[in-house]
Amino acid sequence: MNSDHRILVTGATGATGGYAIDHLLAKGAQVRAFVRSDDARAQALRDRGVEVALGDLVDFHSVRSAMQGVHAAYFVYPIMQPGILNATAFFAEAARESGVQAVVNMSQISARRDAASHAARDHWFSEQVFNWSGIPTTHLRPTFFMEWLLYGFQLPLIAQHGILQVPAGEGRHAPIAAEDQGRLIAAILLEPARHVGKVYPLFGAKEMNHQQIAAAVGEALGREIRYVPESIEGFEQRLSALGLPEHFIQHVSAVYRDYQNGIFAGHDSLIQDITGLPPMTVQQFVQEKRDRFMPGSN
Ligand SMILES: NC(=O)c1ccc[n+]([C@@H]2O[C@H](COP(=O)([O-])OP(=O)(O)OC[C@H]3O[C@@H](n4cnc5c(N)ncnc54)[C@H](OP(=O)(O)O)[C@@H]3O)[C@@H](O)[C@H]2O)c1
Repeated sequence: MNSDHRILVTGATGATGGYAIDHLLAKGAQVRAFVRSDDARAQALRDRGVEVALGDLVDFHSVRSAMQGVHAAYFVYPIMQPGILNATAFFAEAARESGVQAVVNMSQISARRDAASHAARDHWFSEQVFNWSGIPTTHLRPTFFMEWLLYGFQLPLIAQHGILQVPAGEGRHAPIAAEDQGRLIAAILLEPARHVGKVYPLFGAKEMNHQQIAAAVGEALGREIRYVPESIEGFEQRLSALGLPEHFIQHVSAVYRDYQNGIFAGHDSLIQDITGLPPMTVQQFVQEKRDRFMPGSN
């Protein structure tokens, strides 16, 4: 691997960034991880040969310093916090100043100029900022992640009560695992040329409704899991009672309306075509993480 080809990965302690690092290291890439705190997770990255840059995506100078000597970079901003447009402008300017050759930008399938979700709308504007910047960028627009099954407002209901409860109505999607996305992100960062300027909607192995997803989770666990449709208002109240941030609640309630209207549906073979491996199924994902779905495990 060319020593000038250092790759910067944000969200390194998160789902997609973490898996992207695994795949980059497996390919022998030189990786710099952008992390917020110098904790045990940062040390674990160093122990694996990753260079660690401390900073915050909304602090321009820390982003600029982390970008020095970088060839390609992965940008991911957390959905729980507002501020993606600020972070995008800082990231694009830092990339431009330091001569970065390629950026992979994590957006989402519901990103639209007039999206009702503030976060989805801002993802769309963030894509435009990268485009104006002239930095060669590939935008990823995944449907809902498989990791929804593990989130704090979902996993305990599955594990303790055997129910999958969200306001999905009769909508459908092909859940996509962060691990499959990490493999794709690494592949694009390592050979960006043919992906530059592309907007990739991303889908998992199989498009399903929530009765089918619940049945697939149940099959993997060997017990019955039922889908319990929830109203959007009930969902908002439940998330609010759990103390989740208002920005996130506004986003997820708006995107569940999108979901019911088919915005998250779709299926393709992009993950397999680019990475050579198919995306995992719901059954494979749950089997791999079986212990976390056991009653009393969370
Ligand atoms: N979940 C879905 O269904 C879905 C679907 C489509 C698109 N997306 C998009 O995926 C993205 C989230 O990706 P993910 O699930 O891989 O992320 P994630 O697991 O939520 O991790 C977020 C990462 O960002 C880091 N972080 C948080 N605030 C930061 C800051 N101010 N400066 C620097 N780093 C910061 C976190 O660090 P700490 O560990 O220190 O907190 C963590 O490493 C969002 O943009 C979302 O819109 C998600």
